[in-house]
Amino acid sequence: MRGKLVVGNWKMHGGLRQNDALFADLRSGWNPPEGRRLAVCVPFPYLWQAQAALSGSAIAWGAQNISERATGAFTGEVSAAMVAEFGCRYVIVGHSERRTLFAETDAVVAAKAAAAMAAGLTPIVCVGETLQEREAGSTEAVVARQLDAVLAELGIRIADAVLAYEPVWAIGTGLTASPAQAQAVHALVRRRLRSVDAADVAVLYGGSVKADNAQALFACPDVDGGLVGGASLKAAEFLAIAHA
Ligand code: 13P
Repeated sequence: MRGKLVVGNWKMHGGLRQNDALFADLRSGWNPPEGRRLAVCVPFPYLWQAQAALSGSAIAWGAQNISERATGAFTGEVSAAMVAEFGCRYVIVGHSERRTLFAETDAVVAAKAAAAMAAGLTPIVCVGETLQEREAGSTEAVVARQLDAVLAELGIRIADAVLAYEPVWAIGTGLTASPAQAQAVHALVRRRLRSVDAADVAVLYGGSVKADNAQALFACPDVDGGLVGGASLKAAEFLAIAHA
């Protein structure tokens, strides 16, 4: 479903006391303008805290990863059903940090998206090219390959997912894709979604989104909001992005 959506990805940051303050500030500072949605994706141990702090508010919460498997002897893994028990609406799958640092393949990412849906969660499926791939002129091919793997697994169920275009070279670097660069890839993603009758999927941009660049990015016709890393850890900055 399109409509503006801003999601915070805390990554491996947080602590009980600082989370309490951040949740409270977000809760009191978020008066959603019509049609805008806000969510935070927190580390697993804080899902209960997000649920306690945000239940009954206009802010949704979610996880940053799940296992592609349902249950079994997989030490250290966390299933989609477990995450769903904590009231999560979303789970990020296929973040570039998972793809590169934890060797997640397109097939694993697709399986995780399917596992999320089977548990009633909305997967936020991340795609994006590295700097090397962009410089080699293969941005379109890489994004299409990543997206097609998920489309092949989900089919029309992709209509209930969220996508996020995160150019790897813009993540945590302070380098942001220009609105034109973001729009070009978002349009490509939208075309592919339209070909399976799912043009209405929200497509977020991620990569050094800040309060001072959010408005220009979110104004692009195929950009439906943002997936925000570092700036989601500061309530005022994150709320400014969400209101942009
Ligand atoms: P930054 O906003 O810190 O660049 O991180 C982006 C990101 O990876 C969100 O998932």
